[in-house]
Amino acid sequence: MSEALLDVRDLRAGYRRSVVLQGVDLAVREGEVVALLGRNGVGKTTLVHSIMGLVRPSSGSIRFDGQELSGRTPDQIARRGLALVPQGRRIFSRLSVEENLKLAHRSRNGGHDLDSVYELLPRLHERRRHRGRQLSGGEQQMLAIGRALLANARLVLFDEPSEGLAPKAVDQIASVIAGLREQKLSALLVEQNLHVALKLADAVNVMTKGEIVYRATVDEFRSDPKAARAFLGVGQV
Ligand SMILES: Nc1ncnc2c1ncn2[C@@H]1O[C@H](COP(=O)(O)OP(=O)(O)OP(=O)(O)O)[C@@H](O)[C@H]1O
Ligand SMILES: [Mg+2]
Repeated sequence: MSEALLDVRDLRAGYRRSVVLQGVDLAVREGEVVALLGRNGVGKTTLVHSIMGLVRPSSGSIRFDGQELSGRTPDQIARRGLALVPQGRRIFSRLSVEENLKLAHRSRNGGHDLDSVYELLPRLHERRRHRGRQLSGGEQQMLAIGRALLANARLVLFDEPSEGLAPKAVDQIASVIAGLREQKLSALLVEQNLHVALKLADAVNVMTKGEIVYRATVDEFRSDPKAARAFLGVGQV
């Protein structure tokens, strides 16, 4: 089997007072969407921040397209082709939609530009002169996704894109991500909404305290509801 696009091995990382990741192994292959599930506080954001260089790992490796990312700066990592759609969206609230998008743009031959992102996310075009803070939660999430697309990354890390959104907005965001998947976007999708995760992903990884304790394809996961119950504390899948 060919080497994964993203290959995280035995990753340990944390903060001054606490070790959070205690040896994480995780892989995303080209064109694959991998869901990362887990309860609050287990370390999902710490993992995506470590991949992006925002948290410095204490040991282990993060290889992307065969090259080591660990120890590099967030800017170097973004230039290698990774983008983050951060938890809580974190767009520039005082800037317009269009300014937010333009700031994120890294051009690449055959990649996205402002027009193609507007075509994909027409709501952003309608709202292009509005400031970030004037947008609904769902629109802010679309803007965060639009920014990641304009970064023209080869792999996008989505950190809980459905969190805090109304059901209708969750559906809209899920169909945007489903559309990107059709176009063979590679992604790591952190999700607490199991329904969304299973709809969008090819494979599932479940994290408990700082470790991946279960991994399966979505089909295997669906046919093994005990695993879902044991690891996630949910009754139905
Ligand atoms: N900047 C920080 N400094 C110190 N501790 C942190 C920091 N960020 C997170 N933590 C701690 O690290 C642990 C893992 O947090 P993390 O945000 O990675 O979890 P998570 O799985 O993303 O949770 P959630 O589902 O709530 O987003 C938690 O105990 C949290 O309190
Ligand atoms: Mg988090």
